[in-house]
Amino acid sequence: MPQNAVSKIVSLAGVLAWDASCTFLNLITPSKKEGSVTPQGHPGADGKWPEYVAPKEGDSRCSCPALNAMANHGILPRDGKNITFEELNRVCRTTYNFAPTFCYFVPNYAANMLGRNYKTDSFDLSDLDLHNGIEHDASLTRQDAVVSPDQSKPYVPFIKELLAEATGKDANGKALLTIEDLSRYSSKRRADARASNPEFTLEKIHKTFGSSNSSTLLTIFGGRVEDLEHILLEERIPEGWESRIRAKFGLTIITFNTSAVSKVEKGIDEEKYLADKKAAAGAVETAGEGSSIAK
Ligand SMILES: *[C@@H]1O[C@H](CO)[C@@H](O)[C@H](O)[C@H]1NC(C)=O
Ligand SMILES: *[C@@H]1O[C@H](CO)[C@@H](O)[C@H](O)[C@H]1NC(C)=O
Ligand SMILES: *[C@@H]1O[C@H](CO)[C@@H](O)[C@H](O)[C@H]1NC(C)=O
Repeated sequence: MPQNAVSKIVSLAGVLAWDASCTFLNLITPSKKEGSVTPQGHPGADGKWPEYVAPKEGDSRCSCPALNAMANHGILPRDGKNITFEELNRVCRTTYNFAPTFCYFVPNYAANMLGRNYKTDSFDLSDLDLHNGIEHDASLTRQDAVVSPDQSKPYVPFIKELLAEATGKDANGKALLTIEDLSRYSSKRRADARASNPEFTLEKIHKTFGSSNSSTLLTIFGGRVEDLEHILLEERIPEGWESRIRAKFGLTIITFNTSAVSKVEKGIDEEKYLADKKAAAGAVETAGEGSSIAK
C-alpha cells in the first residue's frame, strides 16, 4: 500500500478513536445551559452575531449555506477568500458546536481534495465546489452544477419546497423538519435530478455527504423551519440564535451518524417516490374520467 494511503487510514482510525472519547465525555459531563452554548469571547456569544452583509460582486461563496453564512457575518473573511483550513476548523467549532473531531476531519478532507496542505495552505470558498469532490448533484438547495455552474447562490424553489415538507411541531406549535421529511424530500430531489440531468452522478460517498447536510438541518439547527428560512434563503444567522447541540464536546461524528445521517439515508427511496407520483397522477386521471361520466 502506498505510504500516504496507510497514513490516511491511520489518521481516520485516530479521528474515530478521538471521536469515541468525545462521545463518551458528552455522556458523562453536563450539557451547556440553554442561552450559553456559543462560548464567551466568540462571535454569537449571548446570541449577538456580527452584522450580516449580503455578498458583494467578486466575493467568494460556495454551495454550503452554513459556510456562506459565516462569511456573510464576517466570522470568516467577508470576501470568502484566503481562509486557512485551521481557521475553518476553529470557527465551525465555536459557531455551530460541532465536535473538535468533526471540525478537524472536514477541513482535512477539503485540503486533501484540493491537494493542499492542511497546516500551511488556504482556500477561497468557491474552491470547495470542485464537482464530485464534496459538491455533488441532487442538492436540496442548489440546481445541479451542469444547470448552474455557479453553485454559490441558493435556489429558492427547492428551499421553499423543502421547508414546506415539514410535518413536525415543537411545544409551541412551530413547524419542525423531521428525519422522515428529509428522507422524503431527498428521494424526490435524487429521482428528479436523475431524470432531468443527463450527466447525473451520485456515488455512495456523496449520498452520505448529502444526508449529512440534511442531518445538519435537523441537529445543529434543530429542524426549526423559522430559523432555516434565514439560514437557507438569506444565508443569515438569526438574531439570538445558538446551536441546538448543547453537548459540551459538541456534535461528534458518531452521534451525528447514529442519531441522524444513517437514518435519513436509510429512509431515502427513489422508487417509492416515483411509484407514489405515478399513483397520484393516476388518481387525478381517474377523477377526471369520473367527472366526465357524471356530466
Ligand atoms: C493570505 O493571508 C496571509 C496571512 O494569513 C497573507 O500572508 C497572504 O498575503 C494572503 N494572501 C492573499 C492573496 O491575500
Ligand atoms: C451537500 O453539500 C454539498 C456542498 O455544499 C452540496 O454540493 C450538495 O449538493 C449537498 N447535498 C444535498 C443533498 O443537499
Ligand atoms: C454510520 O452508520 C452506518 C450505519 O449504522 C455504519 O454502517 C457506518 O459505518 C457509520 N459510520 C461511521 C463513521 O460511524
